[in-house]
Amino acid sequence: MGHVLVTGATGGIGVALVGALVEAGHQVTAVGRDVGRLDVRGIEADLAEPGTLAAAMRTLEDAGQLADVQALVHCAGISPVASVADADSETLRRTLAVNVGSAAELVRLTLPALRRSRGHVVFVNAAPGMSGVARWSAFVGSKAALRELADSLREEEATYGVRVTTVYPGATATDLLGEVRSAFGRPYDPGRCIRPETIAAMICWVLSAPPDAYPCELSVLPSPG
Ligand SMILES: NC(=O)c1ccc[n+]([C@@H]2O[C@H](COP(=O)([O-])OP(=O)(O)OC[C@H]3O[C@@H](n4cnc5c(N)ncnc54)[C@H](OP(=O)(O)O)[C@@H]3O)[C@@H](O)[C@H]2O)c1
Repeated sequence: MGHVLVTGATGGIGVALVGALVEAGHQVTAVGRDVGRLDVRGIEADLAEPGTLAAAMRTLEDAGQLADVQALVHCAGISPVASVADADSETLRRTLAVNVGSAAELVRLTLPALRRSRGHVVFVNAAPGMSGVARWSAFVGSKAALRELADSLREEEATYGVRVTTVYPGATATDLLGEVRSAFGRPYDPGRCIRPETIAAMICWVLSAPPDAYPCELSVLPSPG
């Protein structure tokens, strides 16, 4: 049981994750734009502006609760469907900022606490093996960067005992997936997708790994059939 910082807590997977973490006895702080509607403590922040996060996190520091953070789960993400030719520079900037830049900045801000607690960073990435997808370049590029960030961070922080896990969910039944499928002109049947609660349970399981080992990567696919 510990204090877990969660981004994307207002989304399909994030809401399920907050519920599962609370159920498991964790103290949860949500970081995001509209976290006031959640039942856990919230820090208002726009992850598209990573440079504002240090100031936003000061409220947690002032409350004396930044120091006891034991895990960070970066679940926030945006997923614009547009080619490089069609996307404006702001779309690319925002996608990189929300999906990877804010993750790096939140890690930086919480590292003293994570080192002290020999804590855990979990990055929610995207479908296993996804690369080079036409009309999804900003999203796919940002998730590739997030994977490399995770792998580098794992090396950097190993001596401090900080664990770093990337979770790669396959199609999960959320509004975001519905929008993406619609933009690609592909069918969306939530009944054939992973339930957000299942991804949430798996992230909780990752966080509860015993002291001698942990999953550093976890690919999750819908069961066949
Ligand atoms: N659903 C899938 O099939 C699937 C598959 C693989 C990976 N994933 C990944 O799983 C994660 C969650 O996806 P989801 O399906 O749950 O998506 P979602 O329902 O759209 O949730 C996205 C979350 O990100 C937050 N967010 C977006 N822009 C933000 C910003 N500028 N500042 C702060 N927060 C921001 C949203 O907050 P607001 O409420 O403020 O918008 C929301 O909480 C994403 O990283 C996604 O790439 C999803």
